Amino acid sequence: MAKFYCQQCGYQSFKWLGRCPGCGSWGTLVEENATPSKKAKKPAKFFSITEISHLEEPRIKTHLSELDQVLGGGLVPGSLILLGGDPGIGKSTLLLQVLKNLATKGHKVIYLSGEESPQQIKLRAERLNANHENILIMPETDLSSALEATLAEKPVLLAVDSIQTVFTPEISSAPGSVSQVRECTNKLLEFAKTQGVTVILVGHVTKEGALAGPRILEHLVDTVLYFEGERTAHFRILRAVKNRFGSTNEIGVFEMTAKGLVPVGNPSAYFLSNTEKTAPGAVVCATMEGTRPLLVEVQALVSKTPLATPRRTSVGFDPQRLSMIAAILEKKVGLSFYDQDIYLNVVGGIKLTEPGADLAVAMALASSRLERTLPPKLFLFGEVGLTGEVRPVAYAELRVKEGLKLGFEALCAPKENFKNLKDKPLVKTFCVSNLQEALETLIL
Ligand code: TYD
Ligand code: MG
Repeated sequence: MAKFYCQQCGYQSFKWLGRCPGCGSWGTLVEENATPSKKAKKPAKFFSITEISHLEEPRIKTHLSELDQVLGGGLVPGSLILLGGDPGIGKSTLLLQVLKNLATKGHKVIYLSGEESPQQIKLRAERLNANHENILIMPETDLSSALEATLAEKPVLLAVDSIQTVFTPEISSAPGSVSQVRECTNKLLEFAKTQGVTVILVGHVTKEGALAGPRILEHLVDTVLYFEGERTAHFRILRAVKNRFGSTNEIGVFEMTAKGLVPVGNPSAYFLSNTEKTAPGAVVCATMEGTRPLLVEVQALVSKTPLATPRRTSVGFDPQRLSMIAAILEKKVGLSFYDQDIYLNVVGGIKLTEPGADLAVAMALASSRLERTLPPKLFLFGEVGLTGEVRPVAYAELRVKEGLKLGFEALCAPKENFKNLKDKPLVKTFCVSNLQEALETLIL
């Protein structure tokens, strides 16, 4: 008997419902036929893991260095990649650049666009210098006929911009609906695996920052890339949140220029404000993004509040963690913040998510509160605990290297981390084990 199943939580119902009573999501109930199929059974087979031959996947380089790094060396043939991001962030631009690079290397590539007209794509291609005969544009929204046509051309890459605009006629709901998005992704997955064609899907991001459509999309694909950044700033960060063929947490940094996206080889320079002089509240932090060290400037402004409840505003750093660090400073070092507004900003629009940034945030707050600057050419890292202790962090060596590379001379870091950093050519070092010590050596 046919039953309706919620695609999010698995709730079952005999009739169709607009809203799932189980999880409250809309439009997720899909009819599924639960009658057992009468196919003849095939016995399952075993393999010993040692019998399975090791296969080094060949990679197709996109020749966009930052993208290749995020992908773990290049595109894997037959893989399905999901590229998510806010509207206007540069997803279509990145796709077209990838297509261009592959086309100039002699590969045939197809750009399936349900979002823009061929004229609009042409306009962008001219801007990006991507007029190449190997790039085939297909203005189509019917996925079945698109895949049929693609099959005949045998491309190495199929780009679908976007998954929310294509549909398959077997399902009656509108393009962009949960069941359409899921079914289309399934079809593309099958196409990629059976034909050995790499497929890149563009997915839109909802206001909450999740990829529109069900989370199931992320489970289906091999790689999930997020393209993010402040639209007002020029740089963009490409992040791998899932990668079956490489490490996650890798980031790639691009700059959006008049001629498209340019990989940024030395991203640290982007997240530092260009002033030579130090100012109260400004601190340079050595953080890690995946396996990559980054120097980022953290700025705090602490000022007396006219309000009963002081303001805590944070851009690029978790507000809860900010409140926690302010509370630790108040309790352990005696700096009062209860009557102070706190504004925290991470320069360049990057998000600091790693605990190694705690010490920098604490020192930025203290420095602004006391209106005193930190020593010049200083960078720091360390995690702050609830008792005010400064804890060691991973990858100290890499962080220090990055600081030295950018011309920093003084380092403040947790005591334990210094054990492995003995003969580094630092001019000045501040070795701290708690916030009180950090405050005394750096600010007071
Ligand atoms: P787009 O790739 O269309 O974004 P998405 O597909 O993610 O919605 O491009 C976004 C912005 O980039 C657009 O506002 C114009 C700008 N842009 C440049 O600054 N330089 C360029 O060379 C191109 C092609 C676009
Ligand atoms: Mg687009």
